[in-house]
Amino acid sequence: MTSHCWHRPYMSVTTDKTAESKKMSTSKEQVLAALATIKHPNSSEDILSSNLVESVAVNGGIVSISLAIDPAQAEILEATRKQCEEVVDKLPGVEKVRAIMTAKRAAQSANGKAPPPKPPTPKRLEGVKKIIAIASGKGGVGKSTTAVNLAFALKARGLKVALADCDVYGPSASLMLGTDAKPEFTDNDQIKPVMAHGIKVMSMSFLMPADTAAIWRGPMVIGAVQQFLNGVAWGMDGAVDVMIVDLPPGTGDVQLTLAQTATVDGAVIISTPQDLALIDARKAVDMFAKVNIPVLGVVENMSQYVCPKCGEVSDLFGHGGAENFAKERGMTFLGAVPLHMAIRTGSDDGNPIVLAEPDGPQAKSYFDIADRLARRLEVKA
Ligand SMILES: Nc1ncnc2c1ncn2[C@@H]1O[C@H](COP(=O)(O)OP(=O)(O)O)[C@@H](O)[C@H]1O
Ligand SMILES: [Mg+2]
Repeated sequence: MTSHCWHRPYMSVTTDKTAESKKMSTSKEQVLAALATIKHPNSSEDILSSNLVESVAVNGGIVSISLAIDPAQAEILEATRKQCEEVVDKLPGVEKVRAIMTAKRAAQSANGKAPPPKPPTPKRLEGVKKIIAIASGKGGVGKSTTAVNLAFALKARGLKVALADCDVYGPSASLMLGTDAKPEFTDNDQIKPVMAHGIKVMSMSFLMPADTAAIWRGPMVIGAVQQFLNGVAWGMDGAVDVMIVDLPPGTGDVQLTLAQTATVDGAVIISTPQDLALIDARKAVDMFAKVNIPVLGVVENMSQYVCPKCGEVSDLFGHGGAENFAKERGMTFLGAVPLHMAIRTGSDDGNPIVLAEPDGPQAKSYFDIADRLARRLEVKA
């Protein structure tokens, strides 16, 4: 198989005809009719109907045919290209025929049929200046706890903050913020975000009965996330400086829909120390690179155990190496949050630690991370 350069058309060997046929000439219609007899190898249609033929030019006895193909299909379509030359070569008046393959334009599908739907271009959400997504490889590592506490730490710095709980499979904002308010609608049918302790909040749990999320299918999830972003009046009563998006674990429909719908300024990866050792940092970065979201860095959660009685600190999961590990792999280490009973009870009682004990050491770890993120994204009150 000949190798092709997709920047320049692949030139085939041209075919010379005899002197007699040179006197005659052929028409473009005849060439098209001949090409219409060739079946597309990957489709039930012929190569004209399936838009494989990009152009046909007839100049006297010289015929040039251009086939727009997916480079991945070059080998399969080489036989078709040859067939084009053979059938046209047989037409009266054709002196030379040349069929070339060019890389198809992005809008065309591999089989030349209807172009695939274009992924939507992400937009800045109206009324939202910056978006930070909170992500993790697996569940239960403290994404929601971190999301909520970072939201309040940023608010304490004077920023206008929103929290979008996009974990459609396990929404937790209601519980963590101690609110089960039902959102209302604006005059133009947008959902009003719920105000909780001074931040704007939307959670799937406000909109659906508890424990129904597990059965959600792709299209429902995509619709729900889009509605969360575009159907909520985030900008009402003043623009949001930073929106924190709490994601389900992994990369699925929610992450993809978020990335395709809204401009996300960065993702923060939450990991416990033992998971951190397992994270293939490159994988995490690749996973977000695929959806065009930069990774801002890693937070090590449940880093050290702090005894609630005596305050003794123990390295339950082998604290210390995480920062070096993240750096070695080219990821920013944003900070560590200790494993502390007050963090858990604060979350479970609807009174996050940053609000409950803003001057305590636990809150400080969230403030440090929040300040780092604010500097990185250049958000100021
Ligand atoms: N640093 C921490 N110290 C103590 N408990 C924590 C800490 N971070 C999270 N938790 C608790 O761990 C559980 C899982 O956290 P959560 O934030 O819901 O994880 P995820 O959103 O990643 O599934 C919750 O009960 C939460 O209160
Ligand atoms: Mg969660």
